[in-house]
Amino acid sequence: MTQTAPSEKALVPFVSVDNMMRLIHRIGIEEMLRGLAEYIEADFKRWHLFDKTPRVASHSAEGVIELMPTSDGEVYGFKYVNGHPKNTADGLQTVTAFGLLADVASGYPVLLSEMTMLTAMRTAATSAVVARLLAPRASTVMAMIGNGAQSEFQTLAMKAICGLEEVRLFDIDAEATRKCAANLAGLGVTVTECSSAEEAILGAQIITTCTADKQYATILTDNMIGSGVHINAIGGDCPGKTELAPAILHRAEIFVEYPEQTRIEGEIQQLADDHPVTEIWQVLTGKAEGRRAEEQITLFDSVGFAIEDFSALRYVRDQLDRTGLYDALDMLADPDDPRDLFGMLQRSRPS
Ligand SMILES: NC(=O)c1ccc[n+]([C@@H]2O[C@H](COP(=O)([O-])OP(=O)(O)OC[C@H]3O[C@@H](n4cnc5c(N)ncnc54)[C@H](O)[C@@H]3O)[C@@H](O)[C@H]2O)c1
Repeated sequence: MTQTAPSEKALVPFVSVDNMMRLIHRIGIEEMLRGLAEYIEADFKRWHLFDKTPRVASHSAEGVIELMPTSDGEVYGFKYVNGHPKNTADGLQTVTAFGLLADVASGYPVLLSEMTMLTAMRTAATSAVVARLLAPRASTVMAMIGNGAQSEFQTLAMKAICGLEEVRLFDIDAEATRKCAANLAGLGVTVTECSSAEEAILGAQIITTCTADKQYATILTDNMIGSGVHINAIGGDCPGKTELAPAILHRAEIFVEYPEQTRIEGEIQQLADDHPVTEIWQVLTGKAEGRRAEEQITLFDSVGFAIEDFSALRYVRDQLDRTGLYDALDMLADPDDPRDLFGMLQRSRPS
């Protein structure tokens, strides 16, 4: 039997870094952040349909490699992601990622995508979805502490989704702050470079911490946090890796993605296992209250959950036909007779 060309199902749409960047520019960064936010919100609202599990983490002295799977019963997805805080010193990213969607009915992959860019976009979109629910009314100023890879995305999502007008930057590395300020110039947000975290949080209603350090760090101390702010804590996302003084956690109303994972990885690893937290999906569906008073301190203890990646991949998949921004990857062996895998190999032998 001669081998015909791979069937359509054997060719998996692959979104490279290059095509992801084209896609973001084609749609527009802020428009895509809003689109991702819609998909994330829609999936959080159908929370009960999803398989949920804390991500599978492999820790080393330098960092962590994680797998993040989930399924809504029709589509399965996972992301591979690493976190290596010392990488930037070697000219490498702290976080890199790729991900896959598959058809549950056949088990065949239907999308393979870069997710380093997409993770920055989905993390920022998630932060903004949550800030829109929890931040004080008319929040227009954000402190951005940690001005690395995620920082511009965080700022633009808060602008596109929450109406942010000013960002106040601080990083222990002044070079990172200069980079972030230069990247944000002309994008419609007033940028103020600050020389301390204390200075950055002056007048801010939203405080985002997005630093990388593989140890318990104290980016915010208790005396720095007044009433009536929303803290968007992004960087504490591994056992032993946190950013906030425990006293802040005791004063704040804490909101999380998936408690089973956040208790292992988030700021709340510093608290008792039964410390009360509210799940974001409950607020989004009206099952739980968000901010109850202007003077309250709300904290989004963000670690990044598999459903956010699933939503982001679902969004990207929905753009493929319209944009054509993908390659067809010859990824699945596809013999004409499904049981004749060996025959396919034999027929491919060079003569
Ligand atoms: N919650 C999520 O969903 C999610 C998603 C992506 C990344 N992250 C986490 O966010 C963090 C930042 O990621 P990134 O890709 O921007 O990393 P990055 O290495 O590019 O940037 C981190 C920045 O933090 C700065 N920093 C370190 N210690 C600091 C301190 N004490 N005060 C002020 N600045 C300090 C560094 O100088 C660096 O510029 C990482 O810890 C990463 O694991 C979380």
